[in-house]
Amino acid sequence: MVIRKYQESDRLALIDLWKAVFPEDPPHNEPSQVIDSKLAVDDLIFVAESDGKIVGACMVGYDGHRGWLYAVAVLPEYRRAGIGARLVEHAIRCLKELGCVKVNLQIRSSNAEVVAFYDSLGFKVEDRVSMGMLVDDSPSRKFYEIYGEKDEKV
Ligand SMILES: CC(C)(COP(=O)(O)OP(=O)(O)OC[C@H]1O[C@@H](n2cnc3c(N)ncnc32)[C@H](O)[C@@H]1OP(=O)(O)O)[C@@H](O)C(=O)NCCC(=O)NCCS
Repeated sequence: MVIRKYQESDRLALIDLWKAVFPEDPPHNEPSQVIDSKLAVDDLIFVAESDGKIVGACMVGYDGHRGWLYAVAVLPEYRRAGIGARLVEHAIRCLKELGCVKVNLQIRSSNAEVVAFYDSLGFKVEDRVSMGMLVDDSPSRKFYEIYGEKDEKV
């Protein structure tokens, strides 16, 4: 199993992976759009490849102040084999090389078991209130207005 940067030939596999792992994501998280938008800014998307198959992935952000982890995902049949941990450790190494001193992430409150995953890697639950607002006028904004707070699918 190797962890490496996303390359364009991974696109379909990465889209399938994210759709399988995050089936209820809102329209503004549409995978191909997310990939295009991310690559327009930087190339910090990492994939886990096992026997030629994309089995895990994550996205990393660094704004010069904080590092962020997004969409950390491992296919269900490959879980509990250390792949998620290796993805996150790889992402943290990358962030440290960029000068980052603090890594943040958000977890939907309905996703309690993922807290145990990050806890095992040394992350701590912090006393913060997470807030967000969609600032575009696309149809996904309507979705957020209708479902955002109620379903936390944002
Ligand atoms: C979270 C996720 C990426 C973990 O991937 P993974 O490859 O199974 O994780 P690892 O095998 O590296 O787990 C490392 C440790 O984390 C903890 N852990 C992982 N999954 C856990 C779970 N479901 N319940 C409790 N502890 C868990 C364990 O301590 C585990 O070590 P162990 O297997 O030796 O006990 C994977 O479950 C996933 O894709 N979940 C759905 C997507 C998601 O919610 N992503 C997070 C978005 S913020």
